[in-house]
Amino acid sequence: MAESNENVPAQKFPLENRVAIVTGSSRGIGKAIALHLASLGAKLIINYSSSNSTTLADDVVSQINSNKSMNNSAVSAVAVKADISDPDSVKSLFDAAESAFQSPVNILVNSAAVCDEKRPTIMNTDLNDFDLTFSVNTRGSFLCCKEAANRMIKRRGGGRIICVTSSASASFRAGNGAYTASKAAVEAMVKILAKELKGTGITANCVAPGPIATDMFFNGATEEKVKKVIDECPHGRLGQSEDVAPVVGFLAGDASEWVNGQIIRVNGGYI
Ligand SMILES: NC(=O)c1ccc[n+]([C@@H]2O[C@H](COP(=O)([O-])OP(=O)(O)OC[C@H]3O[C@@H](n4cnc5c(N)ncnc54)[C@H](OP(=O)(O)O)[C@@H]3O)[C@@H](O)[C@H]2O)c1
Repeated sequence: MAESNENVPAQKFPLENRVAIVTGSSRGIGKAIALHLASLGAKLIINYSSSNSTTLADDVVSQINSNKSMNNSAVSAVAVKADISDPDSVKSLFDAAESAFQSPVNILVNSAAVCDEKRPTIMNTDLNDFDLTFSVNTRGSFLCCKEAANRMIKRRGGGRIICVTSSASASFRAGNGAYTASKAAVEAMVKILAKELKGTGITANCVAPGPIATDMFFNGATEEKVKKVIDECPHGRLGQSEDVAPVVGFLAGDASEWVNGQIIRVNGGYI
């Protein structure tokens, strides 16, 4: 049994001296996660893939680096453009993190993903859209998890691997089958990874949000669809990225050691 820590004061920066990569953190849920981890003291790699997002990623970096109350070290965030579906880019992403902070990566949060805004039925899903979805969401998660796990094992310091999946993989609603399947595959992989990491001090978990007010949710969504989602949620509102970030923050820290190989659904009771 763990020793009681009731007399130990809470640390202001529990992730101090930890390096975290958050993929897809130029906007949306990834951005909120990156800002939250920075507020806990982590040094951040802000990742994105398209040139259009460079300014957004740079803004996240500035937000972190200019807020000295968030973190007490000089440089706390760096932006790195890298397509997570490409193995060489993923290696470069981790190399860039290690060289920026002269320290190994302790935390991987894989939030980058794509979602076909047409939300088609399987019968109407274009093969190119299916391939893109699996390439970024599933292959990208696989490559990032593999790279993180191998590097963390080599360094023997433990670590935290967190993949952002989706509550869609538990609700099995009609439409968007390729996206849902791409996330279900990640959930299966992460559960197995957690077991394969036995004895390493590295945990692997998924955080599976329900509908969250980001570009991904609003792209292609009708007003009627948005209203339906709000009506179906017990809290009567859309989820916000800030509803997800603290759950990831907990999983990224030392206190979460006993949460391993799990899929944490963060959806306000929507599913
Ligand atoms: N929003 C929701 O309702 C919802 C619900 C359940 C689960 N989720 C999951 O939550 C996560 C974040 O979603 P979100 O709503 O924040 O999405 P978002 O607003 O569309 O942001 C997606 C992020 O991923 C990046 N990205 C996309 N493809 C990439 C690639 N190949 N390599 C690296 N980065 C890439 C994007 O940057 P670039 O544009 O530069 O590529 C952007 O930073 C995703 O895993 C999503 O599946 C979202």
